[in-house]
Amino acid sequence: MSAFTEDELARIRADFPVLSRTVRDGRPLVYLDSGATAQKPWCVLDAEREYYSTHNAAVHRGAHQLAEEATEAFEGARATVARFIGARPDEVVFTKNGTEAINLVAYAMSNAGAPGAVEGADPEVAARLRLGPGDEIVVTEMEHHANLVPWQELARRTGATLRWIGVTDDGHLQDPTTVVGERTRILAFTQVSNVLGTLNDVAPLVAAARAVGALTLVDACQSVPHLPVDVTALGVDFLAFTGHKVIGPSGIGVLWGRPELLAAMPPFITGGSMIELVHMESSTYAPPPQRFEAGVPMAAQAVGLASAVDYLTELGMDRVHQHDTELTAYCLEQLAGRPWVRVVGPAAPADRVGAVAFTVEGIHPHDVGQVLDDRGIAVRTGHHCAWPLHRRLGIPASTRASFSVYTDRADIDAFVEALDTVPGVFGMTA
Ligand code: ALA
Repeated sequence: MSAFTEDELARIRADFPVLSRTVRDGRPLVYLDSGATAQKPWCVLDAEREYYSTHNAAVHRGAHQLAEEATEAFEGARATVARFIGARPDEVVFTKNGTEAINLVAYAMSNAGAPGAVEGADPEVAARLRLGPGDEIVVTEMEHHANLVPWQELARRTGATLRWIGVTDDGHLQDPTTVVGERTRILAFTQVSNVLGTLNDVAPLVAAARAVGALTLVDACQSVPHLPVDVTALGVDFLAFTGHKVIGPSGIGVLWGRPELLAAMPPFITGGSMIELVHMESSTYAPPPQRFEAGVPMAAQAVGLASAVDYLTELGMDRVHQHDTELTAYCLEQLAGRPWVRVVGPAAPADRVGAVAFTVEGIHPHDVGQVLDDRGIAVRTGHHCAWPLHRRLGIPASTRASFSVYTDRADIDAFVEALDTVPGVFGMTA
């Protein structure tokens, strides 16, 4: 039985207004770029509009009713988002996006080495955050640049060494224990590759890190939109994701961290709202999460994100995941019958989430994308911010179709039908 009946899927699609528009001379939009950013349902648009039209004020400031309502809306959104990932509200930090969430941890780790980083922090916990020459930071070869470049920079600032777990030819991670060792201080990895779609098995990665006392950070940007994610079950120390891929607004991301670690971390961005006491010479800082939320926060986006996760919770994340696996299986099946298409990543649909990237023999991915776009099919082309992974695969770029809750088989049929015209357009036979 399918995750959603035809009627249910039709109702879901009707919730996303952009899906009813046409593109390129009246062609129906076939949106297969949800891995880059997902479309938004009416409830998210309405939640933001309602916030601005009835409650808007600067949260955590002001002695008036609107400020009180805005603060309640913002903190209520934090509680909803925390529940969605099995966390407590005070463990959830709102950031600008997933990239900023990862940078926050990387900066805290280098600032933790500076004298007086956090007054009163537990010295043992604080020591876990410090690193220097001789220490190692481990990532994987399938990371998005957002979970690679911040660690390269952390290595440069601290003198630590960056190492990585390689990727096999079929798009899985190599054995982490060959890279994670006594010198490893943090292991940062993606739960789902934004190119290969690989769903990484988190347990052996966490076990390898724990065995040597290293911290773990999981980039959950491509998993949280598609499957149930529970921070306790994952057993990681930090988790980062972005709102706009979870059918929520852009301009908001989430960092979840173990409370004792957050408590020992120095701030990333400083200014108003994140302080306890300020003197001309120095300041002390508020406890988490406020310590990491300097300035007037993105309240409307938080409210929109809460509405998005409520929408997904209502659908049921198990069903959302099943729907994604069905679409992936269908897409892989369609492409398998076309020998001129090379799909990258695992062969088994159950090992993948959200995306199918491929190359077309003899034709550049940008040209493939353009022919598809002419027919109203939106896909992403290029290296998808995972340049080292493309080098590992021996290809300069790829074309990627990616899915969301509103994607249906008709989208994939339209995509494959348009793809079949590609070789002909370039004078090649399919
Ligand atoms: N990170 C987004 C993607 O993979 C933009 O397309």
